[in-house]
Amino acid sequence: MIIAIDGPAGSGKSSTARAVARELGLLYLDTGAMYRAVALAFLRAGREATPQAAADLLPDLRIEVDHVDGQMHVRLDGEDVTQAIRQPEVGTMASRVSTLRAVREKLVAEQRRIGRSRPDGVILDGRDIGTVVFPDADLKIFMVADAAVRARRRLRDLQEQGVEAAFDEVLQEIEERDRQDRERALAPLRQADDALVVDTTDRAFEQQVQFVVQHARERTSRESVENCSPTDDVA
Ligand code: DC
Repeated sequence: MIIAIDGPAGSGKSSTARAVARELGLLYLDTGAMYRAVALAFLRAGREATPQAAADLLPDLRIEVDHVDGQMHVRLDGEDVTQAIRQPEVGTMASRVSTLRAVREKLVAEQRRIGRSRPDGVILDGRDIGTVVFPDADLKIFMVADAAVRARRRLRDLQEQGVEAAFDEVLQEIEERDRQDRERALAPLRQADDALVVDTTDRAFEQQVQFVVQHARERTSRESVENCSPTDDVA
């Protein structure tokens, strides 16, 4: 089973996807973390998000994902950058590098490879999972929430990581990133026609997790009935 969760920054995608993965025994793939790892490589090389920089940097860039005790780790050329990619400037740069065709091609191919390699199923979150990466996903969720609520959540996450930030700054950064992610020409953030919308502004966390879990279970039981051939009949 493939579950796609898309939505803007801070809408609750990652925490929901992680909890659903745990409950249903799926692999969780945070695709934003992969764009962030590429962004970190650009920042470290002192390069802007341009096609030329992508052509120079990407051929030698190794982005790897592994899972330790259910936690996803991202490696950049062998170095574990799971923490380093959470800095706000890396998020802003990730939004810029994600507009580049070569970056998207490299990461989408890897996301599809990982998604198809797991017989138990995968839950992926990002911006284009239900529209581009897995347009045939078994279940598509589009998460939304008020910008101020999303900024407050982001601020809390940053504070928990010991990163100092002001609310207005975080709100502005989120709004700017949304605009960039929605307006870009390639694989922009948008709701797939067959996605279920979950507004997390006033929803309790556990409620949104159970919404996804329930829909996933319904799809699985529907699929097993549809795949039942007449010879499976024991009556
Ligand atoms: O989910 P996130 O905030 O970690 O993502 C960082 C940026 O990466 C986001 O602003 C846009 C980009 N991204 C993307 O273009 N496509 C994805 N599937 C995931 C993230």
